[in-house]
Amino acid sequence: MVFHATPPVDGSLAELVTIHHAFAHPVPDTVSDEAAALLEPLSVGIWACRKGEVRPASRVLVTGAGPIGLVCVQVAKACGATEITVADVNPDRLAVAVEVGATRIIDTAGATVGDTLRDADPPQVLLECSGHAGVTAQGVRALGPGGRAVLVGMGGDELTLPLSVIQERELVVTGTFRYAGTWPTAVALAASGRVDLERLVTGRYGLADAASALTAVRDTPGAIKSIINPQA
Ligand SMILES: NC(=O)c1ccc[n+]([C@@H]2O[C@H](COP(=O)([O-])OP(=O)(O)OC[C@H]3O[C@@H](n4cnc5c(N)ncnc54)[C@H](O)[C@@H]3O)[C@@H](O)[C@H]2O)c1
Repeated sequence: MVFHATPPVDGSLAELVTIHHAFAHPVPDTVSDEAAALLEPLSVGIWACRKGEVRPASRVLVTGAGPIGLVCVQVAKACGATEITVADVNPDRLAVAVEVGATRIIDTAGATVGDTLRDADPPQVLLECSGHAGVTAQGVRALGPGGRAVLVGMGGDELTLPLSVIQERELVVTGTFRYAGTWPTAVALAASGRVDLERLVTGRYGLADAASALTAVRDTPGAIKSIINPQA
């Protein structure tokens, strides 16, 4: 597989990029170019929700409110989830999570997931989008019997998980690697307004400023996703 942006492929930071027509999906004019650019991370969220079997009235816990966590929130909401708890250490991102559909937020800089959800009905699905080992384990512990833990975040190669909890509650733990067959769904969600991808855009750059675009999300509080327009 050749995947743009994954080493050794330089990606699409170029004025023109050639792709095989089989990989081209039409996007209606109602979807802005910026939203179209974010159909890729949206696909990660669609795949995570499919693996988590998110359905109407699901109780979902999303750990990590970066771009991936925030698309997971929106897809879970579009799937009909009625309780969407989001945990992060970044208050700015937690505020955006509420805007896009979170029904409860947890700042894990000052509280644990378990303490916060102690008196709540336990989540049925964990969409782990931080890559942080500690909050991943907290998320797994928070799941109710038969829950599904979907590990999207990529942290270290190895991770300690509470095995007794996984066994006693018969949890299903799975990873995800990108997605498959998600583009038509992604286009439909964006075109119908079920997801607001433009809300995730916090900076706009030309090709010459690509380096600033990449560092902005690391260095700017409140930044979520940079858009680089090669034609700007
Ligand atoms: N599986 C896949 O196919 C796939 C695809 C894309 C991205 N990813 C991975 O998904 C993860 C999320 O991607 P992103 O672009 O949103 O990254 P990101 O770094 O912008 O977001 C991660 C979020 O986790 C939060 N976080 C860190 N420590 C935390 C803690 N202790 N408790 C709660 N939240 C905490 C951060 O504050 C941040 O908001 C990354 O690890 C990325 O590599 C996986």
